[in-house]
Amino acid sequence: MRGAWKRRALKHPRRSCSESLDEIGFDNQSVLEIGCGTGFFHQTMVQSGASKATGIDISKKMIDYAQSLASKKGLAEKTAYSTGDFVETQDQYGDHDVMLLDKVICCYPDSETLIKLSTEKCRKSYALTYPRDSWIPRLSFGVIRFFLALARSGFKPKIYPVSWVREQIEQAGFKRKSSWNDYFWISEVYQRELESG
Ligand SMILES: C[S@@+](CC[C@H](N)C(=O)[O-])C[C@H]1O[C@@H](n2cnc3c(N)ncnc32)[C@H](O)[C@@H]1O
Repeated sequence: MRGAWKRRALKHPRRSCSESLDEIGFDNQSVLEIGCGTGFFHQTMVQSGASKATGIDISKKMIDYAQSLASKKGLAEKTAYSTGDFVETQDQYGDHDVMLLDKVICCYPDSETLIKLSTEKCRKSYALTYPRDSWIPRLSFGVIRFFLALARSGFKPKIYPVSWVREQIEQAGFKRKSSWNDYFWISEVYQRELESG
């Protein structure tokens, strides 16, 4: 029932992540969302059964907005927010059951370190959305990068090969449970493999 509510609230590609997280289960689990933006995704998870959620974003404006939305939704006691670069501030955060990185690795210059540090802090489910390495996203990112360079912005969004992203997460001890894509985005959920012996 909770899952059905959530599926109506979320649009793809988040919806595919949420459906897969529903199957794995996240009731009473803690969520850490890196690059949370307005916070809609982790707030919906708290409304759907997660025990608490922490949202982190480099942008203070985003964090202020996410925090005010959480308060309006009556989620202030189950949510926490922090402004900063997760890679630089990761010592401040404990381990969490569910890790969300929704369209974030394409916006960070050192995604290898971002994935490494975030998988280390993930106990169970690792969900992410990133652009596919196919011609439509490549062309779009090329145009965006061109205009950012014209505006002398230091921001350089980047597309990583899907095989490389998968390798980083799998080498950290996770197994892919689901994969969904449209022409632009790919959404995947991974589950930590249990250590044998
Ligand atoms: C494209 S936006 C996506 C926002 C949100 N997840 C969504 O899907 O609406 C990427 C966000 O990730 C944040 N971000 C990128 N790298 C980050 C990092 N290392 N630590 C924290 N936030 C980061 C950016 O500030 C930006 O708000």
